[in-house]
Amino acid sequence: MEFTIKSGSPEKQRSACVVVGVFDNRKPTLSAELIDRASGGYISEIIRRGDMEGKLGSTLLLHNVRGTLADRVLLVGLGKERDFREREFRSAVRSAVRLLNETGSYEAVVYLTEEKVKRREVAWRVEHAVVVAMEAVYRFDQMKSQPAEVRRPLRKLTLSVPQRSDLTSGEAAAARGLAIAHGMDLARDLGNLPSNICTPAHLAEHAKALAQELGFQCEVLERPQLEELKMGSLLSVTSGSEQPPKFIILEYNGAAKKQKPVVLIGKGITFDSGGISLKPGLDMDHMKFDMCGAASVFGAFKAVAELKAKVNLVGLIPACENMPSGRAVKPGDIIKSMSGQTIEVLNTDAEGRLILCDAMTYAERYEPSAVVDVATLTGAMVVALGHVACGVFSNSDSLARALLNAGEESFDRGWQMPLWDEYHEALDSNFADFANIGTRAGGGISAACFLSKFGKKYDWAHLDIAGVAWKEGKEKGATGRPIPLLTTWLLSQESAAA
Ligand code: BES
Ligand code: MN
Ligand code: ZN
Repeated sequence: MEFTIKSGSPEKQRSACVVVGVFDNRKPTLSAELIDRASGGYISEIIRRGDMEGKLGSTLLLHNVRGTLADRVLLVGLGKERDFREREFRSAVRSAVRLLNETGSYEAVVYLTEEKVKRREVAWRVEHAVVVAMEAVYRFDQMKSQPAEVRRPLRKLTLSVPQRSDLTSGEAAAARGLAIAHGMDLARDLGNLPSNICTPAHLAEHAKALAQELGFQCEVLERPQLEELKMGSLLSVTSGSEQPPKFIILEYNGAAKKQKPVVLIGKGITFDSGGISLKPGLDMDHMKFDMCGAASVFGAFKAVAELKAKVNLVGLIPACENMPSGRAVKPGDIIKSMSGQTIEVLNTDAEGRLILCDAMTYAERYEPSAVVDVATLTGAMVVALGHVACGVFSNSDSLARALLNAGEESFDRGWQMPLWDEYHEALDSNFADFANIGTRAGGGISAACFLSKFGKKYDWAHLDIAGVAWKEGKEKGATGRPIPLLTTWLLSQESAAA
C-alpha cells in the first residue's frame, strides 16, 4: 500500500472515500462538522437519527454526500473523547481500514490522524496509522491453491494532518511506519510458513536474499564451523534433526566504523517438538512459530536498512529444529557450551536457551554496545503476562528502561521482570555447572537467569516474546511483534549518537 500526507478540508477532497470520526455520544469531530456544513446538515441528521453514535470501532459508509467531492464518506466511531488514547486511535484506524479494504474504495483520505491523542504528536499518529493500516490488510495466502481475491483492495491512503507545517514531520513518520510495517510483513510471512518449508536452510537463503536486496552483509556458518567454534550447546539441540543447522550472521553498518554495534540475537527453532521430552499433541503445530525471534531480527534489519538508519547492527540467528531421534540429546545428558560452562539437560524441551547461549558467547567478539536476544522462550511467560506485553529482562537498568520506553512509544509493550540471585538457585545441578531448567514456578525467570550466565561481558537484555509473537484461534498467525519495539529502540540509538 502507498501512503501520502496532505493538509486540507475534507469536503474538498476528490477521492473514493473520505474518512472522518464521530465521538461517543454523537459528537462529530471537526472534520465531520466540515462535511456536515458542506452537506447542509446531512451528517448531523444521521447522528440525530441514531445511525452513528460514535461507539469505538463502529462504522457507517455514506454515498454521494451532497456538497463534497468524494464518492463516499466513511464515519468512524472513536468512543468517548476524553478516553481517546493510543489504543482507541489504533482501533479506530483499524476498523476504518478493514472496511475500506472490503468495500469498493481502492483509495481514501483519512482524517482520523487529525484527532488529538493524549501525549502524542502528529508524527506519532501518522506512524501508527501506517503500521495499523498495513497490519489490517495483511494476508497470508501463499500456501492456498486458490487465494481468495479481494475485489478492489485498498491501494492508497492519504493521511491528513492539521497544518501545512506538519507535512514534513508527517512524511518522515509515514516512512518510519512503512519501514516497520515492511519488517513486520516479512516476519509474519516467515512465521506463518510451515516448518516443512521454513527450515533452517530456508531462513538462511531468505537472509542472504534480504541482505542482497537491502545492501548489507550476510554470512552463514555450517555444522563443521559450529563444531570448530565448540558450540556444543547449540549442536546438542540440532542432533536429533535431519535438517542441517544454520548459524546466520547479518551485519548492517549505517554509522561510523568506530561506533560499537548493537547485537540482536533471534531464536530460530523452525520446529520445536520438544525433542525426547516430547510435547503433548495439543497445539503442537504452534511450534512452527518458534522461529519468530529470528524473524523479528530479520524484520528489524529490514526496517533499519530501509530507513538507512545511522546505527551499526549485527544479527545472530542460531537456526535448527528440535526433534527426537536415536541421535537426539537425552534428559540427563551433559553438554559443554561454547563458553566452556557445562549444562545438564534435564528437559530437552528447554532448547531455546541452549541455542541462544552459544550465540551470546559468539556475540562477545563484536565488543557490542548492547546485546538483545529475542525469543519465544517459555510458556511460563504467556502465563505471567498473557498476550499483551513481552517480558523484558536485563543486567542493565538503563538498557531495560530504553527498551520499555521504545515499547510504550511503539505500542508494542514490554514489562520488566527480575533476575535476582534467589531465582538462580533453581538451576543448581549436582553433576554439571548448572541445569537447563528450574522448577515450574517462575519458569520465564529461571530461563532468563540461565541466559544471563552467558551475557556477563556486555549490557544484555532478553525479550521473552512467547505470548506476543503469534495469535491463536480464528486469527491464528504471526504478529510481527516485537519489531515496532526493536526498531523504535534502534532509531533512538541513532539520535543518541548524533
Ligand atoms: N518454544 C517453547 C516455549 C513456548 C511454549 C512458547 C508454548 C509458546 C507457547 C520452549 O522451547 C519450551 O518448550 N519451553 C518449555 C520450558 C520448560 C521445559 C522448562 C516450556 O515453557 O514449557
Ligand atoms: Mn521447547
Ligand atoms: Zn522452543
